[in-house]
Amino acid sequence: MRVPRVAAATALAVVLMCFSVPIAAASQGRGHNDSLAALAARHHGLRIGTAVDTDVLAADAAYRQTIVDQFSTVTPENVMKWQLVEPTQGQFDYAAADGLVKFARRNHDKVRGHTLVWHNQLPTWLTSGSFSNDQLRDLLHKHIVDEATHFRGQIWAWDVVNEAFNEDGTLRDTIWRAALGDDYIADAFRWAHRADHKAKLFYNDFNIEGINAKSDAVYALVKRLRAEGVPIHGVGAQAHLGIQFGFPGGVTENLQRFADLGLDVAFTETDARMVLPVTDEKLQRQADFYSQLMQSCLAVRRCVSYTVWGFTDAHSWVPGFFTGQGAACLYDENLQPKPAYFAIRQDLLAS
Ligand code: XIL
Repeated sequence: MRVPRVAAATALAVVLMCFSVPIAAASQGRGHNDSLAALAARHHGLRIGTAVDTDVLAADAAYRQTIVDQFSTVTPENVMKWQLVEPTQGQFDYAAADGLVKFARRNHDKVRGHTLVWHNQLPTWLTSGSFSNDQLRDLLHKHIVDEATHFRGQIWAWDVVNEAFNEDGTLRDTIWRAALGDDYIADAFRWAHRADHKAKLFYNDFNIEGINAKSDAVYALVKRLRAEGVPIHGVGAQAHLGIQFGFPGGVTENLQRFADLGLDVAFTETDARMVLPVTDEKLQRQADFYSQLMQSCLAVRRCVSYTVWGFTDAHSWVPGFFTGQGAACLYDENLQPKPAYFAIRQDLLAS
């Protein structure tokens, strides 16, 4: 049903009025019952997370305070990626990531480590080096052991392997698959587990929220890995959505089938971009997308976290990667909560 624009705007104004007091209260801190994190905790310990830009974290007190107030897990948006932690071979720079881990510990937040094995944001020394397949295998093994050991005991969940599949369900041709063969995925999980026994180990990918060829392939993979005793504990659906497209079909069923394998599931990088300019109707549709994901997560007992890929439109990867699109987050550029924020908050209150 299409809601006339004026009616939608009026409805929005009413919603905003209703929630203006709790939001002010929420800024008093997460101990307060009104924050997303506090409301989610009542749902079998569900965690609400955000990706964090550590430069902004250092520079912007309001950004920092919103994380403290509203979220209970953090994911480094970039600073645990290989390119950042080992910019020169053998020279490690964990300073920014260590800072985030410390921030999280102070706030009793958990950390999602992101990401050990990916085909993007690799150091240039690696991608432009001329290494043999055996050397690449040793390098990947060393990288996983180095990084998982560095953060041992401090990471709640690692995105061990990120984006290994194509949309049609075939394995993506990456530097790792080419050098190590298809089993690089199983090996990555084994190596990570040996380095950090306590971390939950996740497979993470985009466009696997609903049931489709890609999520079928991920399902087949993780089912096999479980059967073979490979230490994998969860599947993360990134949930980078665009409201100009249809909402994915079968999200709850999809999460449930992974859960039925004995795995945790999570939304790990949620955002819902739109073709600019912003309109009230688009904001409502965006709210509906965020809300549908939340309702699916709440419906599946093993859905352990709902993480957004940045919480404010002021610091979102979307405009830089999707020409003409933006406004993908829960808060606008002035750190004001948008209809999507109120929608997921309502979901957490209602059920
Ligand atoms: C993005 C970051 O947000 C950007 O700042 C960076 O320039 C590129 O990577 N899937 C992922 C994330 O798993 O790591 C990506 O993050 C977004 C898509």
